[in-house]
Amino acid sequence: MIKNTPPMGWNSWNTFGADINEQLIFDTADKMVETGLKDLGYEYLVIDDCWSLKERDENGRLKADPEKFPHGMKAVADYVHSKGLKFGMYSCAGNLTCAGYPGSFEHEFVDAKTFAEWGVDFLKYDYCYHSNIIHGKYLYRRMGLALKNCGRDILFSACSWGADNTAEWMRETGANMWRSTGDIFDTWESVKSLTEQQDKILPYGGAGCFNDMDMLIVGMHGKGNVGLEGLNDTQYKTHFSIWSLFGSPLMIGCDVRNMTGETLDILSNKELIKINQDADCRQVMKVPAIWGGDNLKCYARNLENGDIAVGFFNFGDADAAARLNLDELGLPESTGKTLQMHEVWSGETVTVKNGTFIHSINAYDSLVYRCKVVDA
Ligand code: GLA
Repeated sequence: MIKNTPPMGWNSWNTFGADINEQLIFDTADKMVETGLKDLGYEYLVIDDCWSLKERDENGRLKADPEKFPHGMKAVADYVHSKGLKFGMYSCAGNLTCAGYPGSFEHEFVDAKTFAEWGVDFLKYDYCYHSNIIHGKYLYRRMGLALKNCGRDILFSACSWGADNTAEWMRETGANMWRSTGDIFDTWESVKSLTEQQDKILPYGGAGCFNDMDMLIVGMHGKGNVGLEGLNDTQYKTHFSIWSLFGSPLMIGCDVRNMTGETLDILSNKELIKINQDADCRQVMKVPAIWGGDNLKCYARNLENGDIAVGFFNFGDADAAARLNLDELGLPESTGKTLQMHEVWSGETVTVKNGTFIHSINAYDSLVYRCKVVDA
């Protein structure tokens, strides 16, 4: 059974790009366990592009590059499984993957079978070099069906970047998550832009097919394949807060073998992970942050037990004031109710008086509250 909450795990692309091999995967699997990330729910360990040979074998099957994976993919999957983790791989709806390796077009069923035989639990499916004649929805339908009929539970992680109005047709293909935007880079601008792009597509996320904001850059600090200028830890904290609150899949993208303590702390915020994994998987609501200007964002999400998660995100480089009227959330003063708000990073708890919440927020920072409805 595939869980019906946002998938969590690690993916090789952000840091390692083409520079992948079995030892890296073994060591990463070990670290996912040692650091406690596995126990926090990060369960899928995914090898992205560049794992195969450039040609299929004589039977038309994909073949792992024997220099990178000398014992073959089944052995890698076995190792990952032996650690209590799940194993993910990557292919593409086109003739070629984005990095120019063979894609699964016209090989969907044989590839799904191969992945199942190797013990794959997750398939990221990209959109490069796809047919100009056949609409993308048919290409994803094919692989969706192939995976459903391969004899193994394989989570279908679609990656067509929101192209060709993906939002409108991805859910029907059987995808469990869908990449809603172009690629993330290790810059603050990228985090801001990917967040702002969500506003129009929030209704398409949620249970069954999660709106994927792309792999996390937390802890990359400018190193690796998509590493550019890097972020500071406050910005990484805000990035993680947004992805968590929005119910995006949480796929770690840094080198977990060499994380700082701050990076591990950010990725390990249990209260945020709990909000991310909330069983109701409600749509996020955009809430006006009064007088905050364009750089201050506020979003909220109703949770399964009647609580509300509320996040303020300061995209600006100056300190600001976060303000919220509770009637935005359905709690005008006439209800006789208010919110007791518990901040998930500082542990601070406040009860809102007179229907309006006000709190200072530092430059680049975030405040995320789990709020209980209480008598005013
Ligand atoms: C595309 C995807 C990325 C990554 C690369 C691999 O750009 O969006 O996430 O998988 O391809 O080549």
